Amino acid sequence: MAKEITEIELKQDLGGVVDPDLGITLEELDAVKQIKINDGLIEVFLELTQPMHWVAGRINDACSKVLNQVAPGYESEISFSEKLRDNSDRQILKNVKNIIAVASGKGGVGKSAVAANLAGALSLKGASVGILDGDVYGPSQPTMFGLRDEQFNATETPDGKVYAYPNEKYGIKVASMGFILNRDEAAIVRGPMLAGYFSMLFEQIEWGPLDFLIFDLPPGTGDIQLTLTQKIPLTGAVVVTTPQEISVADVRRSIAMFKRVNVDILGIIENMSYFTPPELPDKKYNIFGEGGGKTVAKENDIPFLGEVPLDIRMREGNDSGHPVVFENNAQAGIFKNIALSLVSEIRKKNHSYNEAGSMEISI
Ligand SMILES: Nc1ncnc2c1ncn2[C@@H]1O[C@H](COP(=O)(O)OP(=O)(O)O)[C@@H](O)[C@H]1O
Ligand SMILES: [Mg+2]
Repeated sequence: MAKEITEIELKQDLGGVVDPDLGITLEELDAVKQIKINDGLIEVFLELTQPMHWVAGRINDACSKVLNQVAPGYESEISFSEKLRDNSDRQILKNVKNIIAVASGKGGVGKSAVAANLAGALSLKGASVGILDGDVYGPSQPTMFGLRDEQFNATETPDGKVYAYPNEKYGIKVASMGFILNRDEAAIVRGPMLAGYFSMLFEQIEWGPLDFLIFDLPPGTGDIQLTLTQKIPLTGAVVVTTPQEISVADVRRSIAMFKRVNVDILGIIENMSYFTPPELPDKKYNIFGEGGGKTVAKENDIPFLGEVPLDIRMREGNDSGHPVVFENNAQAGIFKNIALSLVSEIRKKNHSYNEAGSMEISI
């Protein structure tokens, strides 16, 4: 006969489990929503800050361990739901849970390549992911996803509104200026026409519900970037740099730009950090210098999300429309780890947002 236990006791016991991203207990998070005990079965209902898939497994294991200790002889079932952010104040993209801008101070640092592979890493974890190619003059996501010959599928409603649907590859939804104009045309669009295309890209795409929208910003910190970061309701931004000083100097300008528009920087990713020749797997050559990304992150108290080495498979994958993250190799593993660190930062951001929201209500 199993020992008699109560729901209140169990709630206390489970309340001590810590959310690994947030470093806060389930009790402090008010995450244990309900416990039912019936015929030797304990059912636990937890509500976690989104996105939760990344921590659900670990929290499930920690809770099961506690239940085995305090309620031996009982079966247990733990179910999860997500604490969602209130998006009712948004004008656009209400169905998108997290919008992450990927930015860089200058072009050619691999921002688009990193964006494509991050989108892939998140999608491989089962999340619904879209990628918005905001680089109107040099759209590269159609190439990176092998969608160069595609155009938007669009419909017009009787009152003249146009809705465009993203193209899909590897389960990821992709929208790009490249689906409206080819590269040569895109390079010469200016003024009012550009404004029209912008509103099409940012307001008329039917994404459907998404866990993540990765927004590949055009390189630089000019007016276009500033307008775009204000137009789109960003969860936060990721800044990509290479290790050398000139690239890092541009990152400082990016950081200043995001500060100006009150967008949090979720982290810095250093690309092209080193090169390891396949035949010398223990060697690391710092072709573009060393440690710039970490230094600038530390200087500004921004999380450093990881280093991506130079790898020919990455360049080949980008050119052939098959991002390297979908392969089974070390470079793919690196992107999966970076995505894990990014999600952890997103969860912290969403947690503080929810906290601020609930504080407002209690005033
Ligand atoms: N870590 C890497 N290893 C090898 N090639 C890379 C790496 N990162 C980016 N590239 C390649 O460098 C070029 C520029 O990258 P891209 O993502 O287009 O830069 P950006 O968007 O910053 O202008 C592309 O050909 C891309 O495939
Ligand atoms: Mg690019």
